[in-house]
Amino acid sequence: MEVKPFYWKGDKLLLLDQRKLPHQEVWLELKTYEEVAKAIKEMAVRGAPAIGCTAAYGFVLGVKVQKEDPEKVYETLKNTRPTAYNLFWALDRMMKALKEGKDIEEEAKEIEKEDYEANKRMGEIGSEIVPLNAKVLTHCNTGALATAGWGTALGVIRSAHYGGKNIFVWVDETRPYLQGARLTAWELVKESIPHKIITDSTAGFLMKKGMVDLVIVGADRITAKGDVANKIGTYTLAVLCKEHNVPFYVAAPTSTIDSNIKSGEEIIIEERSPEEVKVCGGCAIAPKESDALHLAFDITPAELITGIITEKGIFKPERITEALKD
Ligand code: MRU
Repeated sequence: MEVKPFYWKGDKLLLLDQRKLPHQEVWLELKTYEEVAKAIKEMAVRGAPAIGCTAAYGFVLGVKVQKEDPEKVYETLKNTRPTAYNLFWALDRMMKALKEGKDIEEEAKEIEKEDYEANKRMGEIGSEIVPLNAKVLTHCNTGALATAGWGTALGVIRSAHYGGKNIFVWVDETRPYLQGARLTAWELVKESIPHKIITDSTAGFLMKKGMVDLVIVGADRITAKGDVANKIGTYTLAVLCKEHNVPFYVAAPTSTIDSNIKSGEEIIIEERSPEEVKVCGGCAIAPKESDALHLAFDITPAELITGIITEKGIFKPERITEALKD
């Protein structure tokens, strides 16, 4: 059964509250751009492409429905999360559409449609690099929940599964937000795709024992030279892959490529509340006196990446800007 994280209803956005998954399926009814901004900031919706689509509908609510100043709406939605490029890409596209006198509601629907189609295409293209009977490891949630549907890295896994590749998925739990254990596992259960959840620190030893054939992850931002920002822990996986000779692929739509910046050093890494590290499932797990550092993303340098799967084909990281050419 296909999952969708949001539905546009003309005057409101229905949003599946991902903070409540996998135990409860609660739908939020968002009627203002301020509510959309809050939902993005507080991670009711997350995943770079899903954030972009949601922000586009937030822009429609603010400008078309609430008739607010477009600049104010744009700035409020933009200042929610700093790392995922799709957010800025979608908002810039909405502002451009507005200035060109286009119907912005149609533009937001088009962004959603294009993202879904890009995911399906990445699935087809990417499943070619998945060997028969592969044990694939993935990190965070890059599935239907993180996009307009189907998914990026998890979309490739999904396509390989439906293509009869008989694959097995190692799901990194992805501390501290547990997008792997809570969301990726939830999607895999829904589609009966064989998998096991592992703690993030298990990956290296599995590779050492020859139990991982391939790693596929998503991306929040890809620079012109092919450096990739993604969920914290991605860099560690890439280093482990190098050591154990395991191919390391990134799957992302071209809307994640930020050709304005060259190196990963220029990417702003979101730092979230230490409480998200110190509290797990509502339970305090650390002394209240201890401080914690919560970097939400890391940067994987291009040289550790085997290839980047996009809807335009698979690219060597250093050639990723070729994916932006028509
Ligand atoms: O903090 P999140 O859950 O928004 O982080 C999500 C990720 O890091 C994903 O890997 C990335 O956005 C790609 S999603 C298709």
